[in-house]
Amino acid sequence: MRINKYLALCGVAGRRGAEKFIKQGKVSVNGKIINEFAVDVDEKNDVVRFDGKILNIPQSFTYIMLNKPKGYICSNSDEKGRKTVFDLIQSDKRLFTVGRLDYDTEGLLIITDDGALCKKLTHPSNEIGKTYIVKIDGKISENALAALRNGVILDDGFKTSESIVKILKAENDSTRIEISIHEGHNRQIKRMFGAVGKQVVFLKRVSVGNLRLGGLKRGEFRHLKKREILEISK
Ligand code: URA
Repeated sequence: MRINKYLALCGVAGRRGAEKFIKQGKVSVNGKIINEFAVDVDEKNDVVRFDGKILNIPQSFTYIMLNKPKGYICSNSDEKGRKTVFDLIQSDKRLFTVGRLDYDTEGLLIITDDGALCKKLTHPSNEIGKTYIVKIDGKISENALAALRNGVILDDGFKTSESIVKILKAENDSTRIEISIHEGHNRQIKRMFGAVGKQVVFLKRVSVGNLRLGGLKRGEFRHLKKREILEISK
């Protein structure tokens, strides 16, 4: 594309203003100051600078919140032919999931093409909180709850950090529990409950950071609002 269009897309100036800056010798392409307007730039490979600073065309990324139903995998394809979460989105963009939920787990899944945000949200040092609703068969003892709160040793020897655990509903044959963690080890919740001798029979993620699933129905998705994108990108 023409250099003045490139400068305009980067928000430096309108096309006319861009020509003025080129005349003033403020614009360089691959290290060489340019002094004519009829220069084409390859927006993927050329390095364009204005006043010495690299200019990039702002990207418009996609940010989706999906209420993943069970029976879908978090992958672009599956050798067993199972349905993937992308079958529910049907976008022509190359999207990926931020972390994963198991095949039989439901709930809040972020899907995007913003690699930097994905890295940030999944990096353990950022300690993004995630809240899950867990159902187990039967009852759970106070000792087991205390162990989950204080940290348990998983089957690979990893000790989990402190978590917040609340009983939501205790019945004779089952218990519903809310648990918030800020780590993201593979199958962490099921393995934490496994460590206290309890098998998870239902698992749903209801929040990631400040994002809540709210009234989004199973299998439905929505685009994140600008405010939500800013919040999770902080
Ligand atoms: N923990 C699990 O065990 N499974 C999930 O899908 C997410 C968290």
